[in-house]
Amino acid sequence: ARGASLTDFAEKIGVDAASLVQVLFHLGEMVTATQSVNDETLQILGEELNYDVQVVSPEDEDRELLESFALGFGEDEGADEDMAPRPPVVTVMGHVDHGKTKLLDALRNANVVAKEAGGITQSIGAYQVTTEVDGQERAITFIDTPGHEAFTAMRARGAQATDIAVLVVAADDGVMPQTVEALNHAQAAGVPVVVAVNKVDKPDADPSKARGQLTEYGLVPEEYGGDTMFVDVSAKAGTGLDSLLESIVLTADAELDLRANPDQNAEGLAIEAHLDRGRGAVATVIVQRGTLRVGDTLVAGSAFGRVRALLDEFGNNIEEAPPSRPALVLGLTAVPGAGDNFMVVDDDRIARQIAEKREARERNAALAKRSGRRTLEDLMRE
Ligand code: GTP
Ligand code: MG
Repeated sequence: ARGASLTDFAEKIGVDAASLVQVLFHLGEMVTATQSVNDETLQILGEELNYDVQVVSPEDEDRELLESFALGFGEDEGADEDMAPRPPVVTVMGHVDHGKTKLLDALRNANVVAKEAGGITQSIGAYQVTTEVDGQERAITFIDTPGHEAFTAMRARGAQATDIAVLVVAADDGVMPQTVEALNHAQAAGVPVVVAVNKVDKPDADPSKARGQLTEYGLVPEEYGGDTMFVDVSAKAGTGLDSLLESIVLTADAELDLRANPDQNAEGLAIEAHLDRGRGAVATVIVQRGTLRVGDTLVAGSAFGRVRALLDEFGNNIEEAPPSRPALVLGLTAVPGAGDNFMVVDDDRIARQIAEKREARERNAALAKRSGRRTLEDLMRE
């Protein structure tokens, strides 16, 4: 059950609504049969009447709704041969001031694609670079919000945006508290780690220190017989960047089988969104499966709409975004939240319905919060 009218609830458990009104009256709550009550009240009613009231998670509810329209979510459709390799999606994490932002900037600016496009990358929240590994052009997607807060916030919403974590450790400082914290998050998520030992240009740099320290945390460098790749870099001098990119690709190949079906309705994550004065709601999404196209109807959290334009990290219009491609989406009715799932649906009405349902859910949660009441969902979480 989930916040429902007494009449609906009564019907579900096979009693008449008037008796529920009575029960609530005795408990000191004045509610009419058509009025909507929250999860907490439903649970109390359940207890009074000896019913086991189960809360349906939002994801389950979406799934139910989609299933009722014969749509799946969160899995690739089609047979094995429909799957194609996709680039890894990478998050950069590490201790404060160890050079996460500078490294992301260096990688972005050093990229061949960026040079060819003659463009300066815009901050759209994620960008893709390419590198040559074994004579093959390989792409890597970087999420541009460094730090494990964003990573954790998304994970808390059940979204796994990242395939690989780059752990930045300054060669002079070595392992610091947030290095360990970031590592714990990556390990908890089961995400392989590549270590970038940064600031090797500094006179007091000691790249072997980080290697020794991290060994104690289970990250044993390959050169010590382990299976974690450590790469010495200087984000400032721009050295070691190609090796880092190569190590990411090699780690993905060795530890992950990253494939997705490009030939289905797109699904993925909104990683950032805001309201732009000229362009309206603007969302950066990362496609996880399928291919997103201009003209597609999209639901993202409680926002929906038809994709009016797709832009890449150079601000260029693109017609489509395949798996692992970040893109800026224009045309949504509202601003989705960071970490919200998005999906393309065949029918505008479905998009509207899902979005409205989600919005109602968010509104209920906000109301419950404001009134100091906890929803059953909150209780389950504690
Ligand atoms: P927070 O976002 O505050 O956690 O820091 P950050 O990890 O993003 O570090 P940031 O990139 O802002 O770099 C911190 C400082 O270290 C800046 O002054 C950088 O210029 C400097 N820095 C980053 N990389 C290098 C490097 O490779 N060599 C040297 N010498 N300095 C660097
Ligand atoms: Mg930073």
